[in-house]
Amino acid sequence: MALAHVGHEVQFVDLDTAKIEMLRSGRSPIHEPGVEDLLKINAHRLGFFEKIGEFVAEADIILIAVGTPPKANGKAETRFIEEAVIEVAKQLKDGAVYTLVVKSTVPIGTNRRVAELIGRTLRNQNTNAEVFVASNPEFLREGSALKDAFFPDRIIVGAEDPAAVDALQRLYRPFLEQTFDVPASIPRPEGFMLPPLITTDPTSAEVIKYAANAFLALKISFINEIAGLCEKVGADVVEVSRGIGLDPRIGPGFLNAGLGWGGSCFPKDTLALLAMGSEFGYEMPIVEASRVVNFKQRACIIKKLQHELKALRGRTVGVLGLAFKPGTDDVREAPALDVIRRLLDLGAHVRVHDPIALDNAHKALGDDPEIEYFNDPYKMAEGADAIVLATEWPMYKDLSLGRFSEIMRGRVFIDGRNVIDPGEAKAAGLQYVGVGR
Ligand code: UGA
Repeated sequence: MALAHVGHEVQFVDLDTAKIEMLRSGRSPIHEPGVEDLLKINAHRLGFFEKIGEFVAEADIILIAVGTPPKANGKAETRFIEEAVIEVAKQLKDGAVYTLVVKSTVPIGTNRRVAELIGRTLRNQNTNAEVFVASNPEFLREGSALKDAFFPDRIIVGAEDPAAVDALQRLYRPFLEQTFDVPASIPRPEGFMLPPLITTDPTSAEVIKYAANAFLALKISFINEIAGLCEKVGADVVEVSRGIGLDPRIGPGFLNAGLGWGGSCFPKDTLALLAMGSEFGYEMPIVEASRVVNFKQRACIIKKLQHELKALRGRTVGVLGLAFKPGTDDVREAPALDVIRRLLDLGAHVRVHDPIALDNAHKALGDDPEIEYFNDPYKMAEGADAIVLATEWPMYKDLSLGRFSEIMRGRVFIDGRNVIDPGEAKAAGLQYVGVGR
């Protein structure tokens, strides 16, 4: 979408017909700020297709951004990439030059495999096209994907051939030089600096992507480990986080203690990294520990509830927020869903609210008479013995805590993201319990 906005002709292909139909009618299949505006503004430069067709032959650059979901053994599934490469190869024409770009997060060596596969397929079908392969990992976050695309902190290109680097430099020039019309819905962040384009070999580019996600995941797990210590010694992790984050070597981002990370990236990518290490008999105890700490955070919430309510069987627990983080309707690996499943296992009745992820959560959790879904957080809280705030949607910061305390049966408020002021919660009559404070 961002590529079309800066002036490129972009043809999308996805095998999911429903997604393509939505995009064609100007609607975004996921909740992502700004997408629908850009679909409208750039409609004349966008095309949407259910399968790879002849139009690929006319492309200069072909981006592969298919999913690489985890397999049962933790390794990332690359089958969809290989299938896409073979389908692309069928369309390429004699005498033409293409740059084939792997944007998906892929196991180390995949770019080499793609280069080999495209070369072999072209030879087998006697096509005389030249294809340069490049690894170009993306660092977009769900919920701010367009902002991250327009205003990246760096662009990484891993390629063996300078022709591939040239092609990507041309593709990204408007972002590198910030020469495009900034969309009204996605303003340029204050103090934004022009991003560098870093060129490297494909293998290093592949490692950069995994290392970046593993480091961010680790940073969150680190502060969660410190949060546990804060609870023991009577410190406040929110203060500790502020105090250490001001050191520029540490930085303030990704230091919010709480229920930990979920989503489609950190859980999958840390697992894939461990699986890659184990192929070499190489242990990665730090990455492993980040996962152990992360998944312990979900169990901690249950322990806090048990501490306050004792047995959870027959209790009613309200859960505020189901998406894996605010700003998205994605519930993949959402900590909230894990907490809900544990509560159900322990015999609790669960009432849930989310401003936009209710439908996706319902699909993921299935029909269960012990789960009730609410569009109104106050209706959800009626008669609850305890509330767990699992996702820090901005609207939750403005909730009337006094009203909660009136309509609930109990008074327990577990702030799984440390976003409510403990003093205010206590003044409203709630039994406030944070994480690490
Ligand atoms: C992550 C990376 O941040 C992106 O750079 C990367 O491109 C993307 O994965 C990917 O590989 O595709 P994303 O999964 O969308 O992006 O979400 P994040 O904003 O990184 O949040 C991940 C999880 O960490 C969320 O569950 C969030 O609640 C949690 N988190 C984040 C914390 O628990 N504490 C924090 O301080 C920050």
